[in-house]
Amino acid sequence: MTTLLEARALHHRFERATALDHVSLTLRRHEILAIVGESGSGKTTLLNVLSGRLTPQGGEVFYHDGEGARTLASRGEVSVRKLQRARWGYIAQDPRTALRLDISAGGNIGERLMASGARHYGEIRAVAARWLEAVEIDVARMDDLPRYFSGGMLQRLQIAATLVTGPELVFMDEPTGGLDVSVQARILDLIRALVRRLGLAVVLVTHDIGVARMLADRLIVMRHGRIVESGLTDQVLDDPHHEYTQLLVASVLPA
Ligand SMILES: Nc1ncnc2c1ncn2[C@@H]1O[C@H](COP(=O)(O)OP(=O)(O)OP(=O)(O)O)[C@@H](O)[C@H]1O
Ligand SMILES: [Mg+2]
Repeated sequence: MTTLLEARALHHRFERATALDHVSLTLRRHEILAIVGESGSGKTTLLNVLSGRLTPQGGEVFYHDGEGARTLASRGEVSVRKLQRARWGYIAQDPRTALRLDISAGGNIGERLMASGARHYGEIRAVAARWLEAVEIDVARMDDLPRYFSGGMLQRLQIAATLVTGPELVFMDEPTGGLDVSVQARILDLIRALVRRLGLAVVLVTHDIGVARMLADRLIVMRHGRIVESGLTDQVLDDPHHEYTQLLVASVLPA
């Protein structure tokens, strides 16, 4: 498998905490990598740096496109924003921060398509309808405002609006974190099915080992801004080497 994204020696310190301390990792094409760890361990900071939303104080992120590997810093802001609009996607924990609640569900999907170049109204509407169907939202809700959607429906809509441009890489920060347990399971099923069908590479942040086990090929465990353990998900969870990972696994999985 070829490398898609690579981080080398990332370092980032906020006023009161070191959020990233010499973090290096590799993500291959079509691979799902979970980042787990307790609250404050640096997961979101790492995701923000990998996705070009935050410039780290030290280290580099390489993105391998068809023309070779280049750092995000050397690509420049405009080119990174272009990647973020089309080839990459970002799914936030709270869909309300990512969606526009004052325009229709179909409009939210269409807007991202237009931002990546689509112009034909009829086609945009047809594609939006297909995506509503793909995330199991009744197409009859296309012209409704998301303001009146349930939490689960909002998350489905965010997924549709993110995947509509056909990204190859999607960043997710606790995508089911804000939902009821029963809704969570259905959204996870949906994510798993879509990720497989589309062959996406995913960097998934979660504090839930069960979510990592269900979705991820590989896993990294963070603590105090450092990677303390990494490897194939099943291997790490079935035979954790680091004491902290052992605690993490033991606290969630029944003996
Ligand atoms: N914008 C910020 N300003 C100051 N400190 C921050 C900022 N963002 C994060 N931090 C600090 O950096 C550390 C890592 O935070 P981060 O949000 O990456 O953790 P996390 O693993 O995502 O936690 P959670 O599971 O609670 O979301 C924490 O100590 C946090 O307080
Ligand atoms: Mg976080």
